[in-house]
Amino acid sequence: MTHKMPNNLDYKSYNWSMKVTAAITAVQGYVPDYILTNAELEKMVETSNEWIIARTGIKERRILQGVGKGTSDMAVEAVNALLKKRGITAEELDMIIVATVTPDMMFPSTACVIADKIGAHKCWGYDVSAACSGFLFSLQNAAAYIQSGMAKKVLVVGADKMSSIVDYKDRNTCVIFGDGCGCVLLEPNEEGMGIQDAILHIDGSGRHYLNQKAGGSQYPATEQTVVHREHYIYQEGKTVFKFAVKSMADVSAEIMERNHLTSETVQWLVPHQANLRIIDATRERVGLSEDRVMINIQKYGNTTNGTIPLCLWEWESKLKKGDNLILAAFGGGFTWGALYLKWAY
Ligand SMILES: CC(C)(COP(=O)(O)OP(=O)(O)OC[C@H]1O[C@@H](n2cnc3c(N)ncnc32)[C@H](O)[C@@H]1OP(=O)(O)O)[C@@H](O)C(=O)NCCC(=O)NCCS
Repeated sequence: MTHKMPNNLDYKSYNWSMKVTAAITAVQGYVPDYILTNAELEKMVETSNEWIIARTGIKERRILQGVGKGTSDMAVEAVNALLKKRGITAEELDMIIVATVTPDMMFPSTACVIADKIGAHKCWGYDVSAACSGFLFSLQNAAAYIQSGMAKKVLVVGADKMSSIVDYKDRNTCVIFGDGCGCVLLEPNEEGMGIQDAILHIDGSGRHYLNQKAGGSQYPATEQTVVHREHYIYQEGKTVFKFAVKSMADVSAEIMERNHLTSETVQWLVPHQANLRIIDATRERVGLSEDRVMINIQKYGNTTNGTIPLCLWEWESKLKKGDNLILAAFGGGFTWGALYLKWAY
């Protein structure tokens, strides 16, 4: 019997004896034009440029402006540029996985919206909700489909319009977040490049310290939820900070150890960009020098699911085939993890 896969790939045509890995074959990013500076934030809340830089490392962030513009609009810009770069059409995509905490709507998924807007009529897909770890979780998802032979071209998008859920009266959060999007294409690789290993975790007891309380099924939107500003991000900064420093550093060290990697054999650490002090703690733990850590938090702040693919995009020209990369993230949930990949081109 022939098993027809969702994307009409023939299960039997897959060569099971050959070890196939899932490799990134293209990367692209998009950030909106509007720059929200620390100086501008000083006029909105009681804060200072010096405090923000000293405590977070952030100098400015991008904001998507325009009525009716959502996360998918940033993704479409990035994805169309990626398809052009790779020389393929949207029709060739088997799947779209979108990591986001700011979907255009609660449903349908932003994957559906993006597929429609770019004309990807032959694929299927879904959104992944894992806060700032969503891009890593999505990469692992994509790898599983490719390694099993169920898909050959999987687009993974990490995108968030954080300005849509940030309270610009709350200095604890508004200085941190920004809008942005990055995306990668994953394809089968027979040279052993691409995703090698991942360690991913969730711990829901952390939900009390970083969340968007209202708008879901537990607290649907009411006048009261709006008055109490419960549709915005709530964060207990110190608790999240402590958790982040330990979890991201520990999991990065663990994945290196388990793959017999050292600071000499890892070329790049690609950390989630939440706070420069958290990034530094992870870098120190794994023993890498500053010039081998991708950092662009000063320009974009924390774009949640956008941070890691935006780093890969900005560093693409410096990456060499066979480079060992450790991607690491943590986020609300709590969620956290690290992923080891060999750059494929
Ligand atoms: C939010 C964060 C930057 C605050 O930095 P911090 O050094 O922990 O600061 P604290 O929370 O201890 O606050 C110190 C003081 O600064 C104040 N403060 C907080 N935000 C401020 C701001 N934007 N400007 C000026 N002062 C501020 C606090 O109110 C506090 O004042 P107090 O001592 O009078 O109470 C930091 O905790 C952090 O980055 N946490 C992790 C957040 C994160 O990564 N979130 C995303 C997860 S993916």
